Amino acid sequence: MSSTHQAGGREPARPFLSDIQELRRRAREHIAQGAVTPGYQADRGTVVNLLNEALATEIVCILRYKRHYFMAKGIHAQSVAAEFLQHANEEQAHADEISQRIVQLGGAPNLSPEGMLSRSHSEYVEGESLLDMIKEDLVAERVAIDSYREMIEYVGTNDPTTRRMLEGILATEEEHAEDLSTLLAELDK
Ligand SMILES: [Fe+2]
Ligand SMILES: [Fe+2]
Repeated sequence: MSSTHQAGGREPARPFLSDIQELRRRAREHIAQGAVTPGYQADRGTVVNLLNEALATEIVCILRYKRHYFMAKGIHAQSVAAEFLQHANEEQAHADEISQRIVQLGGAPNLSPEGMLSRSHSEYVEGESLLDMIKEDLVAERVAIDSYREMIEYVGTNDPTTRRMLEGILATEEEHAEDLSTLLAELDK
């Protein structure tokens, strides 16, 4: 037998999980709530609201990137447009992940165009030149980065699944910001 897991020494052995009978009993309660069990620690309504704001943010980002993709002109347009399109597609994947999680939490994704922009954290700025477009996208990504970071802090350890999703999205938004600042530096040469 392994002798390496006795670090605490004297402390009486405590079961890692709750009593299995109790877990089973709780799982049977409120089964209509699907993935949300009584052990769910976060404030579900607040998490759903936050996720709906994140969803609006992603959709505004998709629309802005699509506009920029179709409007990109000039000698650098092709490579920059390809980047815009890739970001638009990744924001779409985020929007889908978030919608899926909202449903798992017993909420409904708010996909109504009405009020979309006011629910969104980032803005929809069209931008005239390629440079303007990239700058606006970078600003929007930086807004998204800060808002995801705050959401992660709010969720804490109360909803590990939502937290993991948000952390994955945050990592992609940071890559987007990095891509855009690289493009800016190249165009500014
Ligand atoms: Fe995103
Ligand atoms: Fe992004």
